[in-house]
This record gives sequence, C-alpha cells and structure tokens, in this order.
Amino acid sequence: MSSSCPGLSRVLVAVAIALVSASSLCPQAWGPPGVQYGQPGRPMTLCCPGVTAGVPVSWFRDGEPRLLQGPSSGLGHELILAQVDSIDEGTYICRTLDGALGGMVTLQLGYPPTRPTVSCQAADYENFSCTWSPSQVSGLPTRYLTSYRKKMVPGADDQRMSPSTGPWPCPQDPPGAARCVVHGAEFWSQYRINVTEVNPLGASTRLLDVRLQNILRPDPPQGLQVEPVPGYPRRLRASWTYPTSWPRQPHFLLKFRLQYRPAQHPAWSMVEPAGLEEVITDAVAGLPHAVRVSARDFLDAGTWSAWSPEAWGTPSSEPLLEETPAGAQSQTQPEDEPQEDSPAPPRPSLQPDPRRLDHRDPLEQVAVLSSLGIFSFLGLVVGALALGLWLRLRPGGKDEPQKPGFLAPMLPVDKFPGAPNL
Ligand SMILES: *[C@@H]1O[C@H](CO)[C@@H](O)[C@H](O)[C@H]1NC(C)=O
Ligand SMILES: *[C@@H]1O[C@H](CO)[C@@H](O)[C@H](O)[C@H]1NC(C)=O
Repeated sequence: MSSSCPGLSRVLVAVAIALVSASSLCPQAWGPPGVQYGQPGRPMTLCCPGVTAGVPVSWFRDGEPRLLQGPSSGLGHELILAQVDSIDEGTYICRTLDGALGGMVTLQLGYPPTRPTVSCQAADYENFSCTWSPSQVSGLPTRYLTSYRKKMVPGADDQRMSPSTGPWPCPQDPPGAARCVVHGAEFWSQYRINVTEVNPLGASTRLLDVRLQNILRPDPPQGLQVEPVPGYPRRLRASWTYPTSWPRQPHFLLKFRLQYRPAQHPAWSMVEPAGLEEVITDAVAGLPHAVRVSARDFLDAGTWSAWSPEAWGTPSSEPLLEETPAGAQSQTQPEDEPQEDSPAPPRPSLQPDPRRLDHRDPLEQVAVLSSLGIFSFLGLVVGALALGLWLRLRPGGKDEPQKPGFLAPMLPVDKFPGAPNL
C-alpha cells in the first residue's frame, strides 16, 4: 500500500522534469530575496541561487543532515518536490559537489490572486476614489495595479483609436493603500476601472464601470447650529454650511433635508429646507431638540449624504412680546402635542430675513438661466429664419436691378454690390 505513493511521486517527478527541463535560470520572483513561492497540493521546483544552470547540487533542509536530492539526480541546480504541503515550507540549502554552499532558498506557500472586490465613491463632482479588498486571502506578498480608461459610448466609432480614452494610472494615495483616486473626472462620462491583484503566482483583474453621477455621495453638511428664536417658545433656527469637500459652483449645488426631534422622543420629523437654514415652528416648548442635516446633489445625482452629527438647541423661554396669550397657552402644552390640528403652520413671520432670500438665489439663478436659454434658442431660431429669408430675397447678381430688401436700411448704401460708387 505504502509503495503507491512513491510510485505516484516518481511519475510526477518525471512529468515535472519534462516541464522544467527547458528552464535554466532561477525565475526572478518579486518580493523578499531568496524566497520562492508555491501552491499547496502542487508540484514545486526550487532553484539553487548563485549556481550556474545545470551544475549538479545536493539539497538539504536547513538544520537536517538528511539528503533530499543528490547531485546525480540529473536535475542540475533544481530540486523537484512532487506535491508541496505546509510541512514543506521553510529553508532549503543547496551545495555544489565540492561541498561549498551554493545557496539558501525559503519556500513559502500560498494561492494565486483572485479578482479583488472593488467599489468606487465620490464626495465631490470632479474626483472619485476606488477602494478594494482581496476576495480571498492568498497568504503571499501582493500588490495591486490600478488604472482607468474613459469608456466608449457605443456607436461613437471615431473615438475608438483616440488616445484621450486612456488607460491612465489611478494613483494609489498613499502608496500601498487599498485606495486610488481619479482627479478631474467628467461628470457625465463613464469610466472603466481596472484593479489587478498581482502576487508571485499570477495576476487577476477586476473591471468596474463607474459614472460619477451614480456614485456621487456628498459629505454631510458642516457647522450645524441650532439657536432659539427670542420670544418664540416653539421655534428653533437651524443653520449649516456646505461640506468643505464640495466647492460651490453654480452648476453643482447641494440640496438638504433636515430632521429634528425633542429629547426622549424617538421619531424624527423631517423638512426639506430651501437654503442653508430652516426655522422649525413646531418645536416643543421648554424641551431640548436634536437636529441633523444631510445633503444631496441638487439634481438628484447619486445618493444622500450621511447625516451630520446631531446639534442640540432649546427653544427660547423668554415671555412672548407680541402674542402673549397664545404663547402662554403653547407653553403649557404637553410634550407630544405639536400643532397637529393645524397641518400647515404659517412660516415664521419674523422680519424678512435677507439671508434666507440669498440662499434661494441659486434656485432663481437656475430658473433665470433656463429662461435665458429658452430665449436665446428662440432668438437663434428667429435669426436663422430671418437669414434664410434674406438669402432668398437678396439680389441674385450684379445685373439685377437693386431691390431694397428688408435689411437695406441697416446697411450703408455704398456697401451694396450694385450700388453706384459716388
Ligand atoms: C478635485 O481634487 C483636486 C485635487 O485634490 C481639488 O483641487 C479639487 O478642488 C477637487 N474638485 C472638487 C470639485 O472638489
Ligand atoms: C488591467 O490591468 C492589467 C495590469 O496593468 C493589464 O495587464 C490588463 O491588460 C488590464 N486589463 C484590461 C482589460 O484593461
């Protein structure tokens, strides 16, 4: 029974000899010097470093006198292991015939690369980053080659050979981090990310198609503040700023949503503020309230940001100046009874707040821009019609008598081809 294994080994050795007989030099594996890599369960060829190919050597395990393979094996400077296992890992020593030390080799076992898991995310409208993790641990020194190219739009044939589609390296920042960053991406273009896992046993590539507009997720708004409104025991004014990672541009604005709840109240109420502040009008008098905000691209690209850290504020407890009777009433209301019977409480009737109007500006700008666009389009159409009309009505040649066209009054007479020179 036990003889079957050596028999099998001999067959494997013969096969392995056939496979490796063509190779002459130790393959230059990357990673620490003096280490050679194999896969459990597979045959393995160790190569004696520092010895000319074909020079016969003897092989030993480090610290063991037992000869593993003699110089008369016919394998030259190589050691064939029929099927390596974890017990074969360790240091091997090869000696030339004169007993001089040929070299030392460490055998390390692991697995070839597998396609890594990749995901990409963008916190602004110009840059995105991709992160990855191995989908299987190889146990070997591993590096990742990262690149990207702009993906062709199907049908746009003239782009096919264009050098402007990459691939370009996706720089890993910092080097060795499982993350690379693409700067200056086009918002509407599609990109193909290539993350290739490489180890001494091979390479494996993951391709991922991304569009900035789909992976966009702003950082949460910053600087959230909640303040009482003096004299109004049911109001709180919340204000915040754009995340610093999102430079403001007329074409790339953020919209916001705000949640608030009184202390010890589990459920959030939510509003969609128009600008960078909101006055809550149905706060519970006397109770601290938690408030948080999140942001999203103005035109709904991507997803909502995470919620900002909560900020707390308590409505003013000063007596009301104007609405004294109503104010006294609302102060005695129990906690869980916001004005549910008046579903649309009037917006705060404080003095007109110039900041509030300011923050609406972007919206209005967009509206104005769109109407300008429509008007200029109409203008173009009218202009084109007028030009067509003029081209049809204008004199066919110099011989024709001058017919005053409708553009005639706009042109000096002496510029007309048929006009006599004075
Ligand atoms: C994109 O990244 C560059 C370099 O870090 C930065 O200067 C630029 O402001 C970023 N773009 C946006 C829209 O944040
Ligand atoms: C992905 O990147 C690897 C390493 O740079 C490269 O060898 C391979 O050809 C690339 N694959 C594609 C489909 O671009």
